[in-house]
Amino acid sequence: MSAPVELRRLATPQDLFHAAADELLRAAGSAIAQRGRFTIALSGGSTPRNLYALIAANASASLPWDQMFFFWGDERHVPPDDPDSNFRMANEALLSKVPIPPANIFRIPAENPDAAAAAETYEQTLRKFFAVAPGEFPRFDLILLGMGPDGHAASLFPETSALQEKSRFVVANRVEKLETSRITLTLPVLNAARCVAFLVSGTDKAAVLHEVLEGNAPAEKYPSKLVRPSDGKLIWFVDRAAASELSTAA
Ligand code: 6PG
Repeated sequence: MSAPVELRRLATPQDLFHAAADELLRAAGSAIAQRGRFTIALSGGSTPRNLYALIAANASASLPWDQMFFFWGDERHVPPDDPDSNFRMANEALLSKVPIPPANIFRIPAENPDAAAAAETYEQTLRKFFAVAPGEFPRFDLILLGMGPDGHAASLFPETSALQEKSRFVVANRVEKLETSRITLTLPVLNAARCVAFLVSGTDKAAVLHEVLEGNAPAEKYPSKLVRPSDGKLIWFVDRAAASELSTAA
């Protein structure tokens, strides 16, 4: 039975990033105390950039970077120096600014012209790092996600083939409306996490947030609805603008 959804409403985007940063530091501390390491999958898109910059500015000295391991929830099918690269965004905003060993950073090899091969390579990286037993899925301590105006999460877009994936950890997902393939963690991996945190900011997300949290449209149409960790926490960090169409009062 999946854990209750925690809805954290913050007044402003900056408050949202501070609250998310506190949660990340808390999760890192408890993971390292219990297991000696913290594993996190970063989100792409524009929303998390300010969270990454905040952590780089405020926590660089206080975090045990050598015990923290960074992965990505998804990647655009571009090389790591491309302006559209999720790796590039996180590297510029955070990873290049903190004393993290390069060996602790596991980016998706999206420069591979064959997106399916890139996905397979990343799956092997996860299998090896997490020493996953047959039939099991890697269990991240924290997975950060954004949500698109169409309700997609990571690169799990509405009515795309990746939504049906039940066994693989990473797939190349053809997104016709973007005329490209994305490389993304699959739902079984998202739902195996100890904690999944959505970061949702801005009025352009208000209608979809209402639908995802309170609506009854089919989940395939709003894939963020399918993100429900089976044995972990689900936290929605939302600002006032994004929450403006929620019926439940603050
Ligand atoms: C990506 C992301 C994607 C993103 C949403 C929200 O590669 O684009 O992983 O899932 O989180 O599209 O994007 P914004 O934060 O830019 O609104």
